[in-house]
Amino acid sequence: MADELGRRDLLKSASAAVAVAAGPAVIAARGQNEKINIGWIGVGTRGNAGLDWLNKASGQHVRLRAVCDTFTGYLARAKDRVQTIYGNTPDTYNDYQQLLADKSIDAVYIMTPEHLHHSMTLAALKAGKHVYIEKPLAHTIEEGAEIVKAWEKSGKVVQVGTQNRSSSLYRKAKELVEAGMLGEIHYVRAFWYRNSAPDDPAWRYKIPADANEQNTDWKKFLGPAQQRAFDKQRYYQWRLYWDYSGGISTDLLVHQTDITNFVLGKTVPTSCMASGGVYRWTDKSDDRDVPDTLSAIYEYGDRFHLNYSCHFGNNHYGYGEQFMGSEGTLEVLNRKDLNFYPQTLDGKAPAHVLAKKEVHYNGMKDFGESDGAINHFRNFIEAVRGNEKVVAPPTAGQQAAISGHMATLSFKANKKIYWDAKTEKVRYS
Ligand SMILES: NC(=O)c1ccc[n+]([C@@H]2O[C@H](COP(=O)([O-])OP(=O)(O)OC[C@H]3O[C@@H](n4cnc5c(N)ncnc54)[C@H](O)[C@@H]3O)[C@@H](O)[C@H]2O)c1
Repeated sequence: MADELGRRDLLKSASAAVAVAAGPAVIAARGQNEKINIGWIGVGTRGNAGLDWLNKASGQHVRLRAVCDTFTGYLARAKDRVQTIYGNTPDTYNDYQQLLADKSIDAVYIMTPEHLHHSMTLAALKAGKHVYIEKPLAHTIEEGAEIVKAWEKSGKVVQVGTQNRSSSLYRKAKELVEAGMLGEIHYVRAFWYRNSAPDDPAWRYKIPADANEQNTDWKKFLGPAQQRAFDKQRYYQWRLYWDYSGGISTDLLVHQTDITNFVLGKTVPTSCMASGGVYRWTDKSDDRDVPDTLSAIYEYGDRFHLNYSCHFGNNHYGYGEQFMGSEGTLEVLNRKDLNFYPQTLDGKAPAHVLAKKEVHYNGMKDFGESDGAINHFRNFIEAVRGNEKVVAPPTAGQQAAISGHMATLSFKANKKIYWDAKTEKVRYS
């Protein structure tokens, strides 16, 4: 018990040090040998994969104490996986409040559908836990703002799951921009294109054969969302419905507004005009709400324009961000390749631009990374240990999410939308 109290004090003081941005390494030296007890909420697709990533990132510093999921099948799978990967048997819960009541748990990973992020993150902070919350930070702008406030008061470490910030490729992109390689940057083109076979509609994930109202705990899944009769599609394919997701805007686009903010030092756009629709998956049996095709045009206050597009009917151009500067173009494609091409202007560019050389990096070959997820987990754990600061705090998560919500709101209203930085609210004129 004394050990446990001592350990908890050390972790507490580590987080306090991070909150005030003091020199955290000193604190870390005292807590270095203590394992951090982790509680894991949501072990579906991302959560199940994440159990392994955390072990790879920081296995020696964590103990996977408990897992929570409302679907009994995934809970059993996670228990088994923890036993295999970590060698211990975790406590299992279907009620996240019960997991949070375990005082030995220091930090939680929250990997549940978007509409549950707000209530779960607030409850976790209230219970005194450090939090890794998947993107988007929350389902609405207002919910995200409440999370930011609660985090500021809590003194806890919170990392938002926009993992590109921890990828060496994007860090290299930021470094090249800051070194002035691109000249003036007023324009970014970002895109995410996907395709799938006609009998495999986008985001219509496979539903476990035995799923029913009881073994999914439908009421807990709905949480604060509108009450409805049990619907397996909504439970397993929640991304397709406005009640639980912003669709492309908050599922995919937020990664790209976030990384644009990170690489270029931007925050929130001043306006957004979004347009699109459900063009491909129009079968009568498909009751999706969210568009499969979306473009969003953003203006920022400082002569900067972001042109975003996403379509689920062709994947030829894949995924990427293209930073278009007056002296060069920098692109990160499919989170795998970074390319920089100087603007030669047929040999008429100024001498200092003509002297620039192409730059190419491959994430796997040059950094041994398939993406930033493992680094992002490690950064969170190191921040809890007091050794680092998180690279994606709630303020950054909220800035990225605001752009996503602006796209959803503009699309739904079929109007241009503006961000009022003074009131921190949107308006339509
Ligand atoms: N950072 C990334 O690149 C990335 C990639 C994929 C998903 N995500 C995010 O991860 C989160 C989860 O996405 P997913 O694809 O794994 O979804 P999923 O549907 O596969 O998993 C969600 C899990 O939450 C469980 N759940 C639902 N309600 C619950 C409740 N009340 N209490 C406990 N568990 C509950 C479900 O049973 C399911 O296992 C989302 O926020 C998503 O945006 C992030």
